[in-house]
Amino acid sequence: MFDLSSTALKRAPSWAASLPEELQTPCFIVSERGIVDNLHATARACGGVERLMPHVKTHRAGWIVKRLIREGVTAFKTATVAEVAMVLEAGAKHVVWAYPTVNPAHIRTVLALAHAHPDARVEALVDSAAGVAAWRLATNGAQLPNLSLLIDLDAGMGRTGAPIATATLQLARELATLGCFGGWHVYDGHIHDLDHATRRKRVAAIVGEVTALTRAAEAEGLSRRLIAGGSYTFDLWPLTLADFVSPGSWAYSSAQHDLELPALGWTPSAYVLATVISRNSTTATLDAGSKAISPDKPLAERFRWDGKIVMMSEEHVVVENTDLAVGDRVMLLPRHACTTAYLYPCAMVLTAEGSWEVREQLGNRR
Ligand SMILES: Cc1ncc(COP(=O)(O)O)c(C=O)c1O
Repeated sequence: MFDLSSTALKRAPSWAASLPEELQTPCFIVSERGIVDNLHATARACGGVERLMPHVKTHRAGWIVKRLIREGVTAFKTATVAEVAMVLEAGAKHVVWAYPTVNPAHIRTVLALAHAHPDARVEALVDSAAGVAAWRLATNGAQLPNLSLLIDLDAGMGRTGAPIATATLQLARELATLGCFGGWHVYDGHIHDLDHATRRKRVAAIVGEVTALTRAAEAEGLSRRLIAGGSYTFDLWPLTLADFVSPGSWAYSSAQHDLELPALGWTPSAYVLATVISRNSTTATLDAGSKAISPDKPLAERFRWDGKIVMMSEEHVVVENTDLAVGDRVMLLPRHACTTAYLYPCAMVLTAEGSWEVREQLGNRR
């Protein structure tokens, strides 16, 4: 008979040594302690946990939101309405829906959530007159005391956002007339230079433009509140300008952060456990294909490997290897943890108390 206890765990971080023997693979493996340590490192780098508004898109897990609230996080950023609902259900009292859509069904859902959670502050983004009109239509012009709208600014990413220009003040005036203007939002996700000084310089240029705009807003009696930044820039936004900073992917970190942002001291805390199912003289085949590790990065980079990743299909990945045996289990560190977490409705979590537990997450629910 095949002796399961003889299957070796390879290329695993030390915290995974106690992983249960019998697990169906591929399996998403998370360290709660790692997330909390990463939170502390992130809070230190941005001037305090009260300034941190973590984006939840990385993990999409209510249990992580609850844990971060226990650690002092007061506000969360989201991209989808399911994330908004998840964050509010987890007990958060401040959520920003950072997605300036005009989709009326989504807007109505977020309005219903704001109604259902009157003790929570709910904020959403607009970046156009059409956005203002969509919210005006959905609310019928009525004010919700716990809802406000922020103006999304395009800092050069070219994805969403109104220009950082005085003309954009008109949108703020319109929202103020509706009684719901809450301030400004900037995401500078196009800045990922490896050199910190280069990132600093590029953020400083945006800071100059945003400062001019928010000063002009303030001079008219409009809010200058600002939410800014992602994992590569959150530590560069001045305390005097950005009330909140909103990096997200630090929660699990990744092979990419490990390489590119070592100074932030984040520890990779989410892996995919895979099993070697076949091998030949120079390669091993593992059960972690593109349905187990997201294929949104080039093949060679999808996870950290000490050799070539030869090919990946839906349920298989073939890697250059000479030391693994059929049945060995391997912990793969994804290059992009966010899109990999999305593939799993639950995670096997090493709790801070040291036990293993299956915990739910949104996975691919929108
Ligand atoms: C609007 C917005 N804010 C914040 C973040 C988090 O940034 P990061 O992934 O760099 O941590 C993202 C990530 O995509 C985002 O789209």
